[in-house]
Amino acid sequence: MDFFKYKNGELFCEDVPAEKIAREVGTACYVYSKATFLYHYRQIRDAFAPLNPTICYSVKSCGNLNILKFLANEGCGFDVTSGGELFRALQAGGDAKKMIYAGVGKTDQEIADGINAGIAAFNLESEEEIENVDRVAGSIGKKAIGAIRINPDVDPGAKTHAKTTTGKKETKFGVDIERAERVFEQYRNLKNLRIGGVHIHIGSPIYEVEPYVDAVKKMTALIDRLTERGHKIEWFDCGGGFGVNYEKPEQAHPVTDHARALIPLLQGKPYRIAFEPGRYIAGNAGVLLTRVLYRKQGGEKKFVIVDAGMNDLIRPTLYESYHHIWPVKPDEKNLNADRRRDFQVVAGETVDIVGPICESGDYLGRNRSLPNVKRGDLLAVFTAGAYGFAMASNYNNRPRLPEVLVDGSAYKIIRKRETLEDLVALERI
Ligand SMILES: Cc1ncc(COP(=O)(O)O)c(C=O)c1O
Repeated sequence: MDFFKYKNGELFCEDVPAEKIAREVGTACYVYSKATFLYHYRQIRDAFAPLNPTICYSVKSCGNLNILKFLANEGCGFDVTSGGELFRALQAGGDAKKMIYAGVGKTDQEIADGINAGIAAFNLESEEEIENVDRVAGSIGKKAIGAIRINPDVDPGAKTHAKTTTGKKETKFGVDIERAERVFEQYRNLKNLRIGGVHIHIGSPIYEVEPYVDAVKKMTALIDRLTERGHKIEWFDCGGGFGVNYEKPEQAHPVTDHARALIPLLQGKPYRIAFEPGRYIAGNAGVLLTRVLYRKQGGEKKFVIVDAGMNDLIRPTLYESYHHIWPVKPDEKNLNADRRRDFQVVAGETVDIVGPICESGDYLGRNRSLPNVKRGDLLAVFTAGAYGFAMASNYNNRPRLPEVLVDGSAYKIIRKRETLEDLVALERI
């Protein structure tokens, strides 16, 4: 579900033509739909309502202040993973009591910042980190609250890329489930850190319901065993990772399917439940608009060179991910193509859509059937809201792109395009 639709032969974001934004803001740029963000946040909130969970939007997926602000206003909490994300979430007016802080390498400063902000909990990933959070809390004369991230050793499903699989045994994340009881026992009586919860995040994107069901069953059994041993478990954070439709309609389960399977396993438990969705809220809420710079032939292959590159959207290069790409104004023959019907190309060609970066891995799409496009045409790269700008870099000294938020018939630049001066400003010393 999203609010990017073709009307009268051109792509609109809500009620604003994408071409108008590209003309006025310049390309390339990210365009977000506020209604789509809210739709998905509310869908998760409502689907899991019987559990009354804390929904902690994963700031790492798309953390623009303006987006965090309207999510905070909806009552959304935040999952942060660095001092920078914590700062952002607080600057956006987020409620620290609804913030959880995950990550395997928190520094002393970041731990102190989290404690001083009064966050709900640290998700703790190793024994050494547990000891350090206790020590840092003591050194600033405060108490910290934590949950132990458990690695439930479940298979996330075939479609989850190895680089984003986190719930198997051999990862840097969390404590193996076999070791969990021993770790709880070992750190039962820390002076400055109370461990009152458990956390999992099994990977992302997850396209099936079963991995969550497997993990939650293992965890509720673990919580039962911990409770029998006298540990007071007050919350269970189930993580994020719900998949979205990158490639085709109905590729991912709607969150209502996850809720239907998980609610019976969790309802009535004497602990609070949290979720940390990022992609499910942000993924389909953004597109990357990019113009065709050139076309060229390399052997048998046709290339369409555009003004966005792997520094703007690294997912295809990093994870071999598929992002749907389609002209903002398709030619007459392809006018009636529709993303939800798989965009049948009536007349077109097979091309690689590549960026300007000096790497052969710099591509947005390979071997794509596309209507014929020419220099100056505008393309939309869909499902670029999550891990698009968030993973962008200045590689090849390319200024990072502006972010635009559409709300109904109005749009606003919510992050300016970086300038050439920005590229060197911090080096003028
Ligand atoms: C601990 C944790 N929680 C939540 C998320 C969000 O995942 P997604 O955006 O796929 O929902 C991530 C992603 O890496 C994560 O590492």
